[in-house]
Amino acid sequence: MSANSPPGSSDDTEPTDRAVPPNLIESLGARIRDLDVDSIRHYLAQKLGFYEPSEPTSPVEQVLEEVSLEGIVKWIKSEKCKNIITLSGAGISTAAGIPDFRSPETGLYHNLQKYNLPEPQAIFEINFFRENPKPFFTLAKELYPGSFKPTLSHYFIKLLCDKGLLLRHYTQNIDTLERVAGLPEEKIVEAHGTFYTSHCLDCKKEYSLDYVKEIIFRDEIPICTNCPGIIKPDIVFFGESLPDRFQRCLQQDFQRCDMLIIMGSSLEVQPFASLIDMVPEWCPRLLINREKAGVRSPLLQLWGLSGGGLQLDEESTRDVARLGDCDEGCQDLAQRLGWGEELQALVAREHARLEREGHITTVHTPISNIEIGSAGSSTAEHKL
Ligand code: OAD
Ligand code: ZN
Repeated sequence: MSANSPPGSSDDTEPTDRAVPPNLIESLGARIRDLDVDSIRHYLAQKLGFYEPSEPTSPVEQVLEEVSLEGIVKWIKSEKCKNIITLSGAGISTAAGIPDFRSPETGLYHNLQKYNLPEPQAIFEINFFRENPKPFFTLAKELYPGSFKPTLSHYFIKLLCDKGLLLRHYTQNIDTLERVAGLPEEKIVEAHGTFYTSHCLDCKKEYSLDYVKEIIFRDEIPICTNCPGIIKPDIVFFGESLPDRFQRCLQQDFQRCDMLIIMGSSLEVQPFASLIDMVPEWCPRLLINREKAGVRSPLLQLWGLSGGGLQLDEESTRDVARLGDCDEGCQDLAQRLGWGEELQALVAREHARLEREGHITTVHTPISNIEIGSAGSSTAEHKL
């Protein structure tokens, strides 16, 4: 039997009636010898729940003239590219002074150890919050919207919108900098929620940003005026569902997408990370990030399985990575598109306006200087 054999076939040399092997390893070996690669692939796909591609009826069309940043630029400039979706994570806001989550040394999760959290992500876990909301509120004070200016990357997304090319911007960020950058509300999906509104965990009474902010900035825990429940900003914690709008928009957007741009995310958190696989199979995908992220598992590929993900090797027909800082990558892309000066002018004009209106950038207090308490419990990833 060989790797190219059709499912279920076996070589003449292979014994069909085998005696019971004396030990488990031999037994497993024998069973594997009795299978072929396709059967194993099928078995793994079923057991592990991975996507098993059906036999392609026709090859997927390659729309990029060349699989490179220049190829992406030509595609965006072409008549055929009309509906760009952008996906973002904390990496588009680090240049504004807001830490991301997983970067070594500077990431939020790496700077919480000394506060005795059972694990760094506990600060965003709903069960932990119910028991001990203090760490979250202490941190929330630092991250509260209103103190930071959008970065060049935010204004690049705004420019895509102004040019009529942006179908939607999906963000995992809770810093609201897309709004501050002037992106219209209907273009934004805040997949992990927002600080704009808050609700009592128990009776669900709604509270405004200003009401909650005032209490948090007095270093107090906001408690409902109706009942003894804690008031929690409407950001999505681990163990909570994503907003309905996320589900509604993704159903209408992703099959229409003809260019996906992913910026500043490790693509580690589900279900957001899976959005990259919801665009059509031919749709070009550009990653602008300091490091490769969301890359297809080579092990699964070896078995002919697609666990989904970006293909950032020489075999790629549509995925391109522009590694480096997001702002640098967006400026580079804008330059190549002929929008370089326009983007610079937009940033300068908008930053000047925000400064005039008192939207001052505060100096960020390192997270390690914040005093927070402890307690414990944990749950898993976000769910739909
Ligand atoms: P992560 O911290 O996981 O990933 C940020 C990514 O951006 C990393 O790959 C960094 O290398 C990269 N990066 C950082 N600064 C950059 C810069 N200036 N230019 C380019 N790349 C840069 O953040 P997210 O992917 O957003 O959920 O994390 C996803 C979710 O995990 C968050 O929404 C949060 C967290 O748990 C919440 O529940 C609040
Ligand atoms: Zn209440």
